[in-house]
Amino acid sequence: MIKMNLKGKDLITTQDWEVEELMQALELAEEMKKKRFSPEFTCILQNKSFLMFFYNPSVRTRQSFEIAATELGGHALFLEPKTMRLKSKKTAGETIEDAAKVMDRYGCGLGIRILEDKINAYGEGENIIREYAEHCNIPVISMAHDKYHPCQGLADVMGYRKHTGNDLKGKTILHTWGHGALARSHCSLQESMLICSRLGMNVRLAHPEGYALEEDVINTVQKNCSENGSEFSKTDDAVQAYKGADIVYSRNWMSEKAYEGGELNKQKEVEKALKLTDWICDEKKMKISNNALFSHPMPVDRGHEVTDGVASGSRSIIYDIAENRLHVQKAVMALTMSD
Ligand code: CP
Repeated sequence: MIKMNLKGKDLITTQDWEVEELMQALELAEEMKKKRFSPEFTCILQNKSFLMFFYNPSVRTRQSFEIAATELGGHALFLEPKTMRLKSKKTAGETIEDAAKVMDRYGCGLGIRILEDKINAYGEGENIIREYAEHCNIPVISMAHDKYHPCQGLADVMGYRKHTGNDLKGKTILHTWGHGALARSHCSLQESMLICSRLGMNVRLAHPEGYALEEDVINTVQKNCSENGSEFSKTDDAVQAYKGADIVYSRNWMSEKAYEGGELNKQKEVEKALKLTDWICDEKKMKISNNALFSHPMPVDRGHEVTDGVASGSRSIIYDIAENRLHVQKAVMALTMSD
């Protein structure tokens, strides 16, 4: 079952893994989905514990990781900053290095989630996760941070493979901004663009002025596309962006000015975003697409990012993708944490 040696490998973004390694995780996830409780999988993490460290709340991530550990015969611990005594800019306490070196002695893997409101500048969450990874031998898995959400990216493409065929080469995915009151992190969106471009998909990005993503990420997506014979394009046309798309991914994200002044200006972000009401994925726009599938990592902001009709329509695959989180995480844990 397990062919490549991925034991101990961190997963902070799918971009850090080879395509062959990602494909191995996807194929194992598909096998685990088909034979969910088969004895070949139910003892993989026997007597082992996965540490889940959440700075932010979650529905899917916590439940799917906890259940994944159980289904592999192991256990998952739920940890929050308030259950530890970590040093921060405002409080005295333990360093990340000390905490990481101790956690490394207990667990078989460490998952970390740190999102927009727990940092003061874009990239701080990534730095924290990478600092844990530097001091841990056990694999460190991002459970969503300000830049990336690798398990979500794997779950997304597992859903696209099921609904459009295993070869995603040449398919066009539109990632479009959606208005709303959430001022979300860039993580799910950037991860999706990275993994889709590595699997040969044409990646289209649509957003209003002021909502550009990190330049380095865009450059990497462009490079991935050119290496894989696909195209990257950008537009600020909220309607024409849909033309010919095979998959539409609509999601709110914060503006370029979100951390101006050294903290997240959530109120300003929300006020600005709620005015851009043209930016919603609706039935009319979906008609311009190539009968596109609707994709979203959830939680969905219905009535803002997307209409109820599209989110609950026959082309929506949001629940399949949410289910896939369980299967891909089981595969990643088996590949990186088993003996
Ligand atoms: N998609 C996702 O990560 O969902 P949660 O925030 O509920 O975990």
